[in-house]
Parts: sequence; structure tokens; C-alpha cells
Amino acid sequence: MTDLGTDLVALAEKLARSAGSLALAGRKKGLTEVDTKSTATDMVTEFDRASERLIVDGLIESRPHDAIVGEEGTSRDGTSGISWFVDPIDGTTNFFYDLPNWCVSIGAKDAGGTVCGVVYVPALDEMFTATRGGGAWLNGKQIHCGSIAELSQALICTGFNYDSSNRVAQAERILRYIDKVRDVRRFGAAAIDICYVACGRLDGYYEEYLWPWDYVAADLIAREAGCRTGDLTGAPIDNRDVLISNPTLFPQLVTLIRESGGK
Ligand code: IPD
Ligand code: CA
Ligand code: CA
Repeated sequence: MTDLGTDLVALAEKLARSAGSLALAGRKKGLTEVDTKSTATDMVTEFDRASERLIVDGLIESRPHDAIVGEEGTSRDGTSGISWFVDPIDGTTNFFYDLPNWCVSIGAKDAGGTVCGVVYVPALDEMFTATRGGGAWLNGKQIHCGSIAELSQALICTGFNYDSSNRVAQAERILRYIDKVRDVRRFGAAAIDICYVACGRLDGYYEEYLWPWDYVAADLIAREAGCRTGDLTGAPIDNRDVLISNPTLFPQLVTLIRESGGK
């Protein structure tokens, strides 16, 4: 008999791969429906919706009593104690421009926190997975965060909110710390950015105003890879502040971000 996390991660992996393949094939053919949501630059395509539909239908079929929250409108109550958080395409702007950094992100929580997380990057065929207590994996190989201990050597990643007034404050903060770190990246998909910290491709990631579907899966992957994750007070991530790095850099990044105009 397998445990719950193993069963759930297998289901999430299967659905993420199917939804990602569907979106990738659709993107190759071309987009026909592109609408906007919170602002004129916050896009949603027919493949964001189709990916969410495929994942939600698959979850309901296998786990009819679970709750599900999806970015494109799914909000379903459950009775099993398991809640799923689905970002059907994280990095929609990259998807729109046919850049490879977009993913499908699926995480599940129970009363004890996140049980499993899956982040699948279809264009690169990279599957990041984790179960609580079971380590973090990239295409079946265990991953660990990096060990850089000096801010001056750290490659930091961030993101910008769709609301243009928030973006200005976020960009101004970078001006105040860019001379204190190795360099700064903005790849455009929060879940992938966090997984990149988990596997040592980046040393730190900070962004505000995210949603649970952006980070629930990747947060577990990062913690299982040895990262420290939290908000700027060190508390578990909420919707606003999401900071991820190795445990040595974490307090240094809190100070740096606060001194640069963080919350
Ligand atoms: C966005 C991406 C982006 C981040 C934004 C998110 P979406 O998600 O993760 O990197 O900077 O804050 O909203 O809209 O592409 O699913
Ligand atoms: Ca997202
Ligand atoms: Ca999305």
C-alpha cells in the first residue's frame, strides 16, 4: 500500500503532464483567444482555460471529495480534508510570446500543510516534484538548493506584479540592492523561479502579491530541497511576500529587502 503523498503526487504528475502537453501542442498551432483579466497586461488564453479544465476534470474523477482552487475560476468545496491549488499555466506572458519558461503547477494541502507539489515545464520537459518528507526531485533525480553564503555571490530572481503601480515600487527596490548581489533575473513564472532556487540554478527569489496557486507546489519542492521559505518575518508564506533561499542566505536577504524598501 502506498501513502497518501505518493498517490497524490502521481495523480498531479499525470495531470500536469497531460495539461502541459495539450497547452504546448496548442501553442505550436497558434493562439486564437486571448483576453485580459486584472489589468490590460494580465492575459488569459484558451489554453489557460483548457489546461485548468483538464486538470480539474481529472481531479474530480479520481478524488471527487477534494476541494479545488484554480486560477481560472475553479472554486470547489470538499469533504476529504485535501485541497488542491492549480495554476494551469504559470507564466502566461511567456506562453503568449512562445518563450519556454511557463509551467503547470499543482499542489495539494491537508491539515498538516502541503502534502505534494508538482511543477511541470512542458517546453523543456522538466518535471519538479515533492512529497512531504520525501525529498524534491527533477525528472526523477533528487535536487538540493545551493550553498552560496555571501550575498555578493548570490544570483537573485524576482517578478513584477500586473498592477503598474506595484511594479514601479518593485523595480525601485532592485535599484537599491543590485550592487550588493551577483546579479538579478526576471524569468516570468514564479513557480519555475522557486524550483530553480530548489535545484541551485538560482540562490534566492523574492516577490510580493502572489497567490496560493503560484507557490503552494513550488514552496514544498523548495523546502524538501533544503531551502528556507517564508515571508519577510520568517512566517510561512502568505499571499504577499514570498522569499526562498538557502537557510544561510535567508536572514541576509530579509535585511537586504527590508533596507531596500521591502514591507
Ligand atoms: C505570474 C507569473 C509571474 C509573476 C506574477 C504572476 P501568471 O503568474 O508567475 O512570474 O511575476 O506575479 O502573477 O499570471 O503567469 O499565472
Ligand atoms: Ca501564476
Ligand atoms: Ca496562470
